[in-house]
Formats: sequence, C-alpha cells, structure tokens
Amino acid sequence: MEDLDAIVAEALDVFGAAADDAALDQCKARYLGKSGRLTEILKTLGKLDPEQRREVGGRINAAKERIESALTARRDTLAQSVLEARLREESIDVTLPGRARTRGSIHPISRTWQRVEEIFASIGFDVADGPEIETDWHNFTALNQPENHPARSMHDTFYVEGGLLLRTHTSPMQVRYARMHKPPIKVIAPGRTYRIDSDATHSPMFHQVEGLWIGENISFADLKGVYTDFLHRFFETDRLQVRFRPSFFPFTEPSAEIDMMFDSGPLKGRWLEISGSGQVHPRVIRNFGLDPERYVGFAFGSGLERLTMLRYGVGDLRLFFEGDLRFLEQFA
Ligand code: FA5
Ligand code: MG
Repeated sequence: MEDLDAIVAEALDVFGAAADDAALDQCKARYLGKSGRLTEILKTLGKLDPEQRREVGGRINAAKERIESALTARRDTLAQSVLEARLREESIDVTLPGRARTRGSIHPISRTWQRVEEIFASIGFDVADGPEIETDWHNFTALNQPENHPARSMHDTFYVEGGLLLRTHTSPMQVRYARMHKPPIKVIAPGRTYRIDSDATHSPMFHQVEGLWIGENISFADLKGVYTDFLHRFFETDRLQVRFRPSFFPFTEPSAEIDMMFDSGPLKGRWLEISGSGQVHPRVIRNFGLDPERYVGFAFGSGLERLTMLRYGVGDLRLFFEGDLRFLEQFA
C-alpha cells in the first residue's frame, strides 16, 4: 500500500499550485475522484481481514479529511484573492476632485421669446405660429409691397424653389391670422425670419415678434400705451423713455420706428431702435378680408435679438448663434 502521508503531502503541494477553482477541481479528482488515488486504496480494503481493515480504514479516513480540509482552505484562499483583485480594480480614489453635474440653460433668445409671450398673453393677446417658407403673396403683395420694391430683390431675400421664399419678417402672419379670425383681432406671432444680411447687428437668420390689434377703434394711442407698457415690463423698469419716430413701411400708415432710451445703466442716454410699427394700411385691412371703413388698428414688428442684446448688454448678435458655452453658460 502506498504511503498515505506521501499522498497527502503531494496533494497539499498540488492544491497549493492550483491557480483557480477549475484547476482545483481537477486536482481534487486526482485524489478523491472515482479513480482517485485514495479511492483506489479504499477499494483494496475488502481484501484485508477485519482487524486490519478497521486500522487501515481509519488511516485512510484521516488522510481523506486532511486532503478535504486542505481543499477547502485553498478554495477560500483563491476566493479571497479574487475578491482582493476586484476591490483593487474597482477601488475609488476618494481624493480625486468630483465631477460636477453641469446645469443646462434656456438660450437667451428663447428666454426673451418666452417673456414676450407671457407679457402679451397677460394683456389678452393670442400667440400664433406660422410657416417660415412663405408665398410671395403673403410676405410682400398682401402687405402692399409693390412688384418693384427693393426688399423683393435677390440681394435681400432668400428665394426657394416653386416661387416660395424664406419669410423676411413675421408680418405675413398678420395676413394669415386675420384671414382666419374674426375681429377683434389681438395677436402676437414670434418666430424665425431670414434676410441676406450679416454683420455685428444683423444675422441671415434672426427672430421677430409681430403684434397686431384690429378692432373698430384701435388707435395709435393704443399702440403707444401697449408698447410702452410692454417695454417697462420686459426690462423690469419704468426708468426708460420711448419715442415713436416717423418712418415708412408699405403696410402701415402712418408708420413709426419705436426707439427707447434707458435713464440709467451702461446704455443710459442713447436712443436705440427696437421695432417697426404703425396703423395698418387700409389696403392691407382689405387683404385681411375686412372693411377698412370699419376696422382699424396697429401692428408692430420687433427684433428679438435686439431686445435680448439690450436686456443683457450683449454687443454682438453673432454670439447668440455660435453655441460657445462660455457665452451661453452666463445665462444658466
Ligand atoms: C420689419 O421687418 C417690419 N415688418 C416691421 C413692422 C411690422 C413694421 C409691423 C410695421 C408694422 P424692419 O426691417 O425694420 O421692419 O425689421 C424690424 C426689426 O427686426 C428691426 O428693428 C431689427 O430689430 C430686426 N432686424 C431686422 N433685420 C435684422 C437682421 N438681419 N438681424 C437681426 N435683426 C434684424
Ligand atoms: Mg427698421
């Protein structure tokens, strides 16, 4: 019979060399498996007499127990080292600076857009929306802009296929809305507009808000009151002056540019143009499908970039469209 102590010693060595659970299982089979070394010895017990059988059986069992406990110990060691490796791999350096969660913010132009809607909605104006690709009729003809008017030139207007164009102002919304609603008509229409125009205060794509109030006795005085009140609320101060400077638009008569001046702050004392405006021309009222003898009222068209630049003191309107986070984060 083989020397049990030698077998145990060998098993201990072999287990110690097993690198993982799978290898350990193979080693275990070599000693305790169906044809493992100890099993083979157990099979010979039958040939011994009872006295010897008890004695040898006892020794074999003792050897088996030692092998089994060595196996368990090795299994525990391997599990421990797997765990340690994982902990090392997944360890967190708590001294590293944290990753801040940055907050998004509403684009300053969108913010102006929302404020304008809120202010006008609070005094009973509906808010309307319409196409940016327009017909020549809505953008020009219905607004009393003659065939040879310079604004219709290819230098100023983006034309697209099929005789359509990118609206050059939000004024076509006056026509679209008025033809679909009954007076009194009281609406604003903010949105994108397009012109072949590009410098620090002009962009090929920009935003306007159109305003229109038509009824039986809506006068220029109403325009002055409504617009002045709007500016006070938009800039959150009464410390600004407003003037209506005579001007010309084919679709209003009389027409005026609306200028404003702050009484304090960095822009104090300078007149700034903010909007076109006027009493809607009788020919345009007729194109609304209404009788100009009965219906009168005002319209205005203001640049949302201009309002935003004045509110936040931005000097170059191209900043709004460059997507530079250093600029945009200031509004977060
Ligand atoms: C108009 O567009 C008229 N439709 C306004 C109007 C409406 C008058 C209703 C009467 C009644 P004007 O071209 O001046 O007018 O443009 C109005 C405003 O849009 C300007 O005061 C300016 O703030 C803004 N604007 C015009 N062109 C640009 C541009 N390229 N980039 C940025 N803002 C512009
Ligand atoms: Mg103008």
